[in-house]
Amino acid sequence: MELSSRLKALPPYLFAELDEMKRKKVLEGVDVIDFGVGDPDLPTPRHIVEEMQRAVEKEENQKYPSYEGKLEFREAVAEFYGRRKKVDLNPETQVIALIGSKEGIAHLPLAFVNPGDIVLVPDPGYPVYYSSAILAEGKPYKVPLKEENGFLPDLESIPDDVAKKAKIFFLNYPNNPTTAVAEMDFIKECVDFCIDNEIVLAHDAAYSEIAFDYRPKSFLEYENSFECTIEFGSLSKTYNMTGWRIGYAVGNEEIIRGLLKVKTNVDSGVFQAVQDAAIVALRGDDSVIEENNRVYKERRDVLVEGLRKLGFEVEKPKATFYVWMKVDGSSIEFAKTLLDKAGVLVTPGVGFGEHGEGYVRFALTRSVERIKEALERMESALNV
Ligand SMILES: Cc1ncc(COP(=O)(O)O)c(C=O)c1O
Repeated sequence: MELSSRLKALPPYLFAELDEMKRKKVLEGVDVIDFGVGDPDLPTPRHIVEEMQRAVEKEENQKYPSYEGKLEFREAVAEFYGRRKKVDLNPETQVIALIGSKEGIAHLPLAFVNPGDIVLVPDPGYPVYYSSAILAEGKPYKVPLKEENGFLPDLESIPDDVAKKAKIFFLNYPNNPTTAVAEMDFIKECVDFCIDNEIVLAHDAAYSEIAFDYRPKSFLEYENSFECTIEFGSLSKTYNMTGWRIGYAVGNEEIIRGLLKVKTNVDSGVFQAVQDAAIVALRGDDSVIEENNRVYKERRDVLVEGLRKLGFEVEKPKATFYVWMKVDGSSIEFAKTLLDKAGVLVTPGVGFGEHGEGYVRFALTRSVERIKEALERMESALNV
């Protein structure tokens, strides 16, 4: 069977060799410390699990859900935005439920991109922006995120003809993988740029609550952004619910309606029991979020300080549960050496795009004890 040209146009999977190396190491009995996956090791809080247990018993939850999500779920998202982001949302028209934010991100280009239209994607970036543009037969245009610009795109560097042909601009702050954050001045600049060029600004806020002594901004805190912006959010990282598959999209009503039209044709909504559990999460006590951040902050400090002692150049991130570290030469070679000599797995930056080359990413999803062990192993293996 021949694959479609769309599928053939997707970039190759860069980590196959590294995955194979990890598999072999594990088979050899090596206790690999894996900092690769951005999947919280902390459990979903008890009160959310207990609500799910109650909710699966309810007969009404056994039916098809509505496409846009329960009104009560959408109200809970709007309340969460009011409480944490100082943004007013109309739950009826400006909020929909998603089967995880990845689902919404992946479907958005199908709503707004015609074959050959440009989609602006950050490089390095979460790979789904690029692949969703390809699947909609759009042309991804990579906008570099460079360290000298604080890993923010330089909008002036985007040629006018590219901006005019662009339909969507994907952005993501707090950023995976660079950990950069966006301040209001930059947010305003992006929104104004998208309004001027009639571009949908798609802001991915998957790490919106993971921050240390810092409050990440919603792009919707700038009032003009409602003219052009859709913001994606997720319960995955905020409440340690990656496996539950629930997120939301909020913002401009027309954009939300466009995305909903795609979804109406390809999926049938989020299991309502999961929505009930998510309502309890979103309306719950924010100490759950603070406790997660306390744990990640301690891990961040141990890892960054340890890496600095080993001679690496690395910043303490203000947000996200990642550490983005500069390395000499090829990031894939660095990761392979680290795995081979120390049994420590990190993600090579080049996997997030060519401008990620020269960096590796650690996910802070391992305990302080494991982080310390990894640092000790690195010290002896790398002879530093
Ligand atoms: C930047 C970014 N956006 C979106 C997602 C998707 O999250 P989910 O689909 O679990 O909501 C992830 C997951 O790792 C991510 O890193």
